[in-house]
Amino acid sequence: MEDSSDDRALASGSFAKEEFGMARDAFQLARGAATAYEQQKVVAIFRPLAEATLAVVGISDEDVVLDVACGTGIVSRVLHQHSPKAAITGLDLNEGMIATARAVTSQQPDAYRWEVGDVTSMPFADGAFTVAICQQGLQFFPDEASAMNEIRRVLRPGGRFILTVWAEPPRFFIALAEAIGRHVSSQDATRSLAPFTYPGLDAIPALLRSSGFAEVRSSDLTIDRVIRDPETSIPLEIKGNPVGPAVTARGEGVMADIVSDVLSSCRDLVHGSDLISPQTARLFTAIAV
Ligand SMILES: C[S@@+](CC[C@H](N)C(=O)[O-])C[C@H]1O[C@@H](n2cnc3c(N)ncnc32)[C@H](O)[C@@H]1O
Repeated sequence: MEDSSDDRALASGSFAKEEFGMARDAFQLARGAATAYEQQKVVAIFRPLAEATLAVVGISDEDVVLDVACGTGIVSRVLHQHSPKAAITGLDLNEGMIATARAVTSQQPDAYRWEVGDVTSMPFADGAFTVAICQQGLQFFPDEASAMNEIRRVLRPGGRFILTVWAEPPRFFIALAEAIGRHVSSQDATRSLAPFTYPGLDAIPALLRSSGFAEVRSSDLTIDRVIRDPETSIPLEIKGNPVGPAVTARGEGVMADIVSDVLSSCRDLVHGSDLISPQTARLFTAIAV
């Protein structure tokens, strides 16, 4: 790929950040993207990751929990199944994500509090929570240090912060990026990998310590991303990705070519009617001091 300044910005994840930020001003577009996100990505990976994370971190009914950058609220929903009495608040910048979170939990309006807001300036009192959990949000924050300081502020001393960030691009997304590079552009190819190539991954423990956290621990969690009926699901995967609008704009023929290329590169990952691609997240835990 050419080494343009755009490519470098994309590799740093800043275009993915910009995409989520822009969604705030484009409610209808955001709502469509949030629906695709809920139907495809939550089912394929974010619910399994939430289940795997909550199985190892142990949150109790007594906890007061903040789900930071909650998206459509999957961590909150899985947590409610595990600990039905825990008080749960979800906050996300994107109005479309929060609208979807509200819609999918409308049968249990008292179980959750949903807030539209920015992680760097949250509408909560100091020490309001015993646990803050952030699943795959850090990559998109414009100022990670401000975000960590703010999360520290809303945790009471001794409270826990639980954070997951993808550790490397999974096979499926490498194949997808290669196909997007062939049929759309090298910039969009790089952009599609931004959530998996967070350049600050190794610096997260130091960032946590300098933001007032101690007992920082990390481990890796590998989850199977299960893409059911890939011919139907891969276009939804693409539409829920920051490059969705760029790919969709090229028309159905390009979408079909991308799906065909990905299926051909990932033949060995197809099991029956599912495509299964392992995906590794780094799990960080830390205590607020
Ligand atoms: C990959 S999604 C993860 C969503 C959710 N945690 C999940 O597991 O499904 C990243 C989320 O970060 C949110 N986000 C990005 N920047 C944010 C900010 N500054 N403050 C709060 N949320 C933000 C986006 O709106 C998006 O919903």
